[in-house]
Amino acid sequence: MSDGGKQALWGGRFKGQSDPLFRRFNDSLPFDYRLLMEDIAGSIAWAKAIRRAGVLDDAELAQLLAALAELAILAQQNPAAPLGSGEEDIHSWVETQLIKRTGNLGKKLHTGRSRNDQVATDLRLWTRSQIDARQAELLDLQRSLVELAQRHKDCIIPGYTHLQRAQPVMLAHWCLAYVEMLRRDHDRLADARRRVNVCPLGSGALAGTAYQVDRTMLASDLGFDRPTDNSLDAVSDRDFVAETLAALALTGVHLSRLAEDMIIYCTQEFGFLELSDAVSSGSSLMPQKKNPDSLELIRGKCGRLIGAQNTLLVTLKGLPLAYNKDMQEDKEPLFDAMENAALAIRMAGIVLRNTRIREDVTLKAARGGYSNATDLADYLVARGVPFRESHDIVGKAVRHAIAAGKPLEELPLDELRTFSPLIADDVYAALSIDSCLSKRQIHGGTGRASVHNALHAAANRLGL
Ligand code: ARG
Repeated sequence: MSDGGKQALWGGRFKGQSDPLFRRFNDSLPFDYRLLMEDIAGSIAWAKAIRRAGVLDDAELAQLLAALAELAILAQQNPAAPLGSGEEDIHSWVETQLIKRTGNLGKKLHTGRSRNDQVATDLRLWTRSQIDARQAELLDLQRSLVELAQRHKDCIIPGYTHLQRAQPVMLAHWCLAYVEMLRRDHDRLADARRRVNVCPLGSGALAGTAYQVDRTMLASDLGFDRPTDNSLDAVSDRDFVAETLAALALTGVHLSRLAEDMIIYCTQEFGFLELSDAVSSGSSLMPQKKNPDSLELIRGKCGRLIGAQNTLLVTLKGLPLAYNKDMQEDKEPLFDAMENAALAIRMAGIVLRNTRIREDVTLKAARGGYSNATDLADYLVARGVPFRESHDIVGKAVRHAIAAGKPLEELPLDELRTFSPLIADDVYAALSIDSCLSKRQIHGGTGRASVHNALHAAANRLGL
């Protein structure tokens, strides 16, 4: 919060005092202090750029760089140092600190620069490093899934559609399904990163800086691929935030679906898996309860990730060119989404490492529910019955089996043959779970060998 007495960067034109509530309303320091390191890095690069443009001499540059290095150390020791200073935003704080250390020289750094190109630059630098961190976390989560699959290499679970038992699948196949989603999430972040990684600095307030800075060199000093190509766009473009938030929102959806699967699987009704105490909590009232709070919160975080993207899109919609203060509202959703995506991704990995699968229960469930009915239909197809007809025959057989309270494979042969005389003794082998799986020996299918190959490939890719 502002102390109300600070002279703002733009104080010259003003005679009257700011209303205290306006100061509080307007100030972004309480959240944009997170850009401290990036603001220092941007300032270092800008100092070098205006030295090359002849605005500073070598001695002045050296002095400014020394002061900025000092600030960087301070920032490392205490990233929250700017808080409580009463400055308007992080850019003002850094400038004030520089002036404290170098006097009038510090006042030269902002030559040719605007907070509009500065904040866009800082936010791109921040987003870039956060994307890198999320990508590393996504890889680690994929490793947790692969490791769970490796611990239960031959485990079979029921596969569902409509949450009704459909066909048996390998647990590893289920794990690898989530690996695929996370791979795409990783890829989407990589794609977003390409458009994050361009340098708006040198765009000035909106029209381009009036100083002959070498923008290509400036961009490369900050690790950007290239400078932006239009100054109006550069200071008002927040697509890179929207794209990053979209990628995080979809990651959130994937994590939420993973969590939902696992929440269902650890109910007493399913009993497929057990979470260790490390990631569960109890009830204050019911002593017997062990709740999957970790998973529920992972599912819950998805809401704010989707919300963050919406917040930004609605904020940007209808803004005239170029910079408008509305755009200050880009930061909190981005900061919040990044922080909570990081937590959720990491938490999901920890939960998976604390998950025990009850292979006997999943096998029993996979055997039940008539999940081999398709295989009986395929059995008849192999004996010349057109699929649509065999589907109908098996439907009737299933209805009969349900009435008899037995699985298909426990119906005696003469009963089965009342549905089709083509059914012979070898039908029982065809109805076994191993046969159901081994038929799906196809790229992308749940056949044991296919899954083991896929698992091997994933483990290799992830350096396991
Ligand atoms: N705190 C501002 C933001 O986050 C910095 C840019 C302010 N620029 C301006 N012309 N008022 O967007």
